[in-house]
Amino acid sequence: FYNENTYIKMKASGKEDEFDKKYEEALESVKGYFGKEYPNIIINDVNEEKKIKDISPIDESELAEFQLASKESIERAIDILSSGYKKWFQVPYDARVNIIEKALRMLQERKFEFAALLTYENGKNRYEAMGDVDEAIDFMKYYSMSMIENHGFIKFTGKAYENEESMSFMKPYGLFAVISPFNFFSIGVGMTTGPLITGNAVLLKPSSDIPLSLYLFVRLLIEAGVNKDAIAFVSGTGSLIGDIITENKKVSGVVFTGSRDVGLRIFKNATKYGPKPVITEMGGKDAVIISDKADLKKAVEGCVRSSFGFAGQKCSASSLIYVHEKIYDEFIEKFVERTKSIKVGDPREKSTFMNPVVNKDAYEKYKKMCETYFKEGKILTGARIMDRKGYYVEPTVITDLKPDSYIVRNEIFLPAVAIIKVKSIDDAINDINSMDYGLTGGIFTEDPEEYQHYFESVDVGVVYANRAAGASTGAMVGSQPFVGWKLSGSTGKGTGSFYYLTQFLREQSITIAH
Ligand code: SER
Repeated sequence: FYNENTYIKMKASGKEDEFDKKYEEALESVKGYFGKEYPNIIINDVNEEKKIKDISPIDESELAEFQLASKESIERAIDILSSGYKKWFQVPYDARVNIIEKALRMLQERKFEFAALLTYENGKNRYEAMGDVDEAIDFMKYYSMSMIENHGFIKFTGKAYENEESMSFMKPYGLFAVISPFNFFSIGVGMTTGPLITGNAVLLKPSSDIPLSLYLFVRLLIEAGVNKDAIAFVSGTGSLIGDIITENKKVSGVVFTGSRDVGLRIFKNATKYGPKPVITEMGGKDAVIISDKADLKKAVEGCVRSSFGFAGQKCSASSLIYVHEKIYDEFIEKFVERTKSIKVGDPREKSTFMNPVVNKDAYEKYKKMCETYFKEGKILTGARIMDRKGYYVEPTVITDLKPDSYIVRNEIFLPAVAIIKVKSIDDAINDINSMDYGLTGGIFTEDPEEYQHYFESVDVGVVYANRAAGASTGAMVGSQPFVGWKLSGSTGKGTGSFYYLTQFLREQSITIAH
């Protein structure tokens, strides 16, 4: 399986200038999408009375307007999709795969455009934005490959009796509601492609921070040949329309990535009338351990990247660093020095590492934390907003927090990291295992026995050793399935994993007696 890796491949073949040129041209060309109003996509596009604004975190400008879907139009979409899936499922699985592959080729051709759009919508710098579009393409490639390799999940199971023939046929459930987050376009794309390629219909409700990229993606799917009554795009705020979607009896399953509180609410609502698949990824409190046997240069770089890349707004971001007491002072000094060298700024500029936070709510939350939770420890750098238009804040490093402090125990989704001194690796592992979450994590140690011990004993889904490119972040589709344990995930199966697609299928055992 070949990952897209656009920037790395272009750089390796001496095309870094071309990468920059294409991205910068796209920053201009996508402006053609701005200043417009976009409809919901169901069988007939509808214009609702209430609108939601797509605001750029770069300068608080309004990019576009979307619809705040009403109960009636959501129900209409659900009615159409919950029977519409049958026609889509009748399309043979290899033909469905062809359609998804056509869509992914279209996305490949327009990758710079989508990356530039993400920069405007959620503030990603060019590398993060292209990485996100690459990941979206990778999901589409991987799930296409998975369908083909598994023969559409149809299997002859043998004869129970001489006069019988039997088979196991994996069939779609019907309609999946997909509720996707702001931080990764790829997550929305992957969560849509999974149920769709297996023959289900999808009602996609994107985060109101990146509606435009996902709107254009759904248009692209329809252009590639996905049945119009198998896919819908419905915008609105989660708090207003989330319950309407998840409580509906005709919705046969829900796929969600986002916060724990919302995820748990979805569980409750979705199963109000009986069981149904609810596939959730609900964040993390991701921790990195720095052993006294670590290569500190690698450790500092890896942690800065994973704590402050995309302003700490990845579910894989490391927001806790456990450091062995023997190297604690040295690590802190180097880590703080490197953090202070981070360039925070307009993500359109090539030299920007850290972007503004995604929206006004995140900005206000950071401001509030500066006055409250951050102050519970010793602030070594940051804990300040920047004096400019847009949602710019400083990367923050805090030490000396109590073990039960709010930011030690809870996901905050901001560029702030807490550092904790430990006497041993096991003390750190025990603390990590006492958390509610178990999404990603990392260790820095040059001792293989130590990282093997960590892998064996930590209750976390995605673990890395010595990853300087991002201590706990940057899972690659196919080779590094992305899976949450405990409160981080509901099913224990990863995205971009061999097991992913089976979650959207129910088995039918078929026997013919002669
Ligand atoms: N792939 C991203 C990461 O690992 C999350 O989707 O950071």
